[in-house]
Amino acid sequence: MKILVTGAAGFIGSHVAQKLLARGDEVVALDNFAPNYSRARKEANLAEYADHARCEFVEADVRNADHIRDLFLYYKFDRVAHLAAMGNVRYSIEHAPEYAAVNIIGTVNLLEAARLSGTRYFVYASTSSVYGSTDVIPFIETASAVRPLAPYPATKIACEVMAYSYHVAFDLKCTGLRFFNVYGPRGRPDMMPFVFTDKISANQPIRVFAEGRPERDWTYIDDIVSGVIAALDAGCDYEIFNLGRGQPIVLSRFIEIIEGLVGRKAIIEHAPLPPTEPMITYANVDKAARLLDYRPQTSIEEGLAKFYAWYQRVNE
Ligand SMILES: NC(=O)c1ccc[n+]([C@@H]2O[C@H](COP(=O)([O-])OP(=O)(O)OC[C@H]3O[C@@H](n4cnc5c(N)ncnc54)[C@H](O)[C@@H]3O)[C@@H](O)[C@H]2O)c1
Repeated sequence: MKILVTGAAGFIGSHVAQKLLARGDEVVALDNFAPNYSRARKEANLAEYADHARCEFVEADVRNADHIRDLFLYYKFDRVAHLAAMGNVRYSIEHAPEYAAVNIIGTVNLLEAARLSGTRYFVYASTSSVYGSTDVIPFIETASAVRPLAPYPATKIACEVMAYSYHVAFDLKCTGLRFFNVYGPRGRPDMMPFVFTDKISANQPIRVFAEGRPERDWTYIDDIVSGVIAALDAGCDYEIFNLGRGQPIVLSRFIEIIEGLVGRKAIIEHAPLPPTEPMITYANVDKAARLLDYRPQTSIEEGLAKFYAWYQRVNE
């Protein structure tokens, strides 16, 4: 199959593209090297797979509707894995217009190009943050998700409803994947595993919310990739799935594991939980298990050890 992977120089996109190539698909990898972190890091992600004979890399911005339409008309993709986005909750508070342009307009440009070019299957990344601070725990896809705590999840809710409208109007087969706290090798430098590892290694203080009581459903990258690929293969009519681990970890335990790996105690600076953060993320993954045979395998201890091995390699 010929598959477009957007955000393919990023954390999750680079792993998805690499896995698709390894199993025999043709991949067009698209990214614009957005400045959310260094271009060098994204080029290092691409260097892991983009010279593959069945891979083509295209530097393009999903906000550019004409360019995106031309790419779809030229390549005639069988399927799309749309993972490009601005993805940091706290940064989104001060940058809502940029998030709306990349995440909402960018996604609509891709949906529109898909329908104009006859691409029938569209899988896209959403987020556990669409649930806000729901009291339906674990989070389940049938619960309401219309009270986001920041612009970032608001844009992802907009993508979900836009995708639904394209499904109804044009029979585009759309699957939204609500990722829960993804981590692992090539992890984003603005996310907690990277930030805490960096700071503990350098003996600098880390900021810990709500006395270390918040819980997060950390999900290892290989498990997420298996879910994305299962969704591409399943070709559902219109579905939304939680992709999490289904086992939330309390923040204080998460810090303990990193301390163990680094071999040093963290210096802790306590802070209240910001209003943009829920106390818990916790995925009910029954639907993904049933329809995608999604079975996350990696424990937090095993996953963070793999993350740390990568971290040490790139920081040598
Ligand atoms: N990492 C997580 O825990 C997590 C959780 C929930 C949802 N997600 C979603 O998963 C997807 C991938 O996230 P990630 O963690 O790999 O982030 P990432 O920042 O590593 O990757 C996103 C990629 O998209 C590219 N991009 C940004 N704007 C673009 C544009 N205008 N045109 C083309 N490319 C553009 C960036 O350059 C980057 O390489 C995103 O949609 C994100 O919202 C991630």
